[in-house]
Amino acid sequence: MRRWLIGGLMVSVLVVAGAGVGVWVLTRPGLDTVGKVAFERRLAVPPLAKSTVDEQGRRVFDLRAQAGESDLGRGKATATWGYNGSYLGPTLRAKRGERVVVNVSNGLAEDTTVHWHGMHLPARMDGGPQTPIRPGAAFSPEWKVDQPAATLWYHPHPHERTEKQVYRGLAGMFLIDDPGTDVAALPHEYGVDDVPVMVQDKAFDDDGQLSESGPFGSEIGILGDSVLVNGTAGPYLDVTTSLVRLRLLNAATARIFNFSLSDGRPFTLIGTDGGLLDRPHRLDRLQLSVGERAEVLVAMRPGERVVLRSGPPAPEGDFAIRRFQGGGDRFDVLELRAAAALRDSPATPGTLVETPRLDPASAAQTREMTFTERDINGRKMEGARVDAVVTRDTTEVWTVRNGHGTPHSFHLHDVQFQVLSRTGGEPVPPSLSGWKDTVYLPPHEGYTVIMRFADFADPETPYMFHCHVLRHEDEGMMGQFVVVEPGGSARVGAHHSHGG
Ligand code: C2O
Ligand code: CU
Ligand code: CU
Repeated sequence: MRRWLIGGLMVSVLVVAGAGVGVWVLTRPGLDTVGKVAFERRLAVPPLAKSTVDEQGRRVFDLRAQAGESDLGRGKATATWGYNGSYLGPTLRAKRGERVVVNVSNGLAEDTTVHWHGMHLPARMDGGPQTPIRPGAAFSPEWKVDQPAATLWYHPHPHERTEKQVYRGLAGMFLIDDPGTDVAALPHEYGVDDVPVMVQDKAFDDDGQLSESGPFGSEIGILGDSVLVNGTAGPYLDVTTSLVRLRLLNAATARIFNFSLSDGRPFTLIGTDGGLLDRPHRLDRLQLSVGERAEVLVAMRPGERVVLRSGPPAPEGDFAIRRFQGGGDRFDVLELRAAAALRDSPATPGTLVETPRLDPASAAQTREMTFTERDINGRKMEGARVDAVVTRDTTEVWTVRNGHGTPHSFHLHDVQFQVLSRTGGEPVPPSLSGWKDTVYLPPHEGYTVIMRFADFADPETPYMFHCHVLRHEDEGMMGQFVVVEPGGSARVGAHHSHGG
């Protein structure tokens, strides 16, 4: 009897505890750091990478992927990875028309690659998973920069290890200047009124080390409760001009950031992934999924402080997205501190760069890509399979859509695209009005996009398209395309590695 009683009691305790966990799992509110971040550290600005010009006139950079330790605001050193340092990498900068060479060396104990996200370059130089760099080995991709001024970035893209490598700190910006169309009136003094803002979320264990497992119920991998900008925890930026240009990059592994300013003031969107817009747009919110960039101008008054924040993505997802995929979370990201006296910035012009619209009537090919589970059109990435053969010098229209309820995003290598329409018929917002290489695919929706494959036929080396939620990419939510000369066909075979 007594034993029965005790047993019953224990069962009830377990049931109550279990229900408690269940209630916690289902009702836990989103993370919210708004108003709770002490902005005590000056924002780190990645140094501009040193370069030399060799006898052939090529601009030469060096990047070494390596392990180290960083102060990520945990009161002790955190083991991290970086390029030429312990966390993130220097900002590479080159002009349209220049030939660049990047000597990439691998100081890690595992394979890596460096992919030039947003860059138009030959597939052999693109740093995809087909071309791993072995530990201790090096690879020196070379190409001619030939695209408009833009905020691009670089990051590893090795087979099945991209999430981990980016999360540990391998990422950097690559800025392109275009002497033909540089808009002199835009703020352009690097680190002063033209500032890289690489936003990432991190989870830490009790020992101050990066935790890589991802929270319970996450379908999209790691979601952290701390937001870093350029690797700085609780960052502030001293602003000395009446307009500051922020080059925003979502360099997280999964999280969507939906940016606004703490007092609700509008800001001016001037550029997206692939370059400047035809004209500036006033916005009070701007959403970036992983890998997307935007250039914005924020107007400041002397002496004031305003905080860049991130709120839940739009459209508001269902319960599971709000609860398990970070869709209910709010963060304070970066405090902008205006000096007591500000230098006047030039007025922003009403038009920026003229961009011809690609014409869907000229498309040689249309394709449909549906993202579900970890598949695109029901298939996972396979190194020996080519999913699309594109003819050089043609225009294509792709409809890319999310076929279920988990957030995804679509990223295309090689070329920038223009968004033609949204599958649900809603209008395309100004934030998708310019050149894009990555676009968020909301649950059950997507976009029709258009792009021109002007150059770089190579039947043997594929480019990638994939979900930029890095866990999904690693799990095979990726496909390959090759660009061939008219009448050509793909000849994709074994991997080519560098070293090893
Ligand atoms: Cu930013 Cu295929 O990657
Ligand atoms: Cu890319
Ligand atoms: Cu995905």
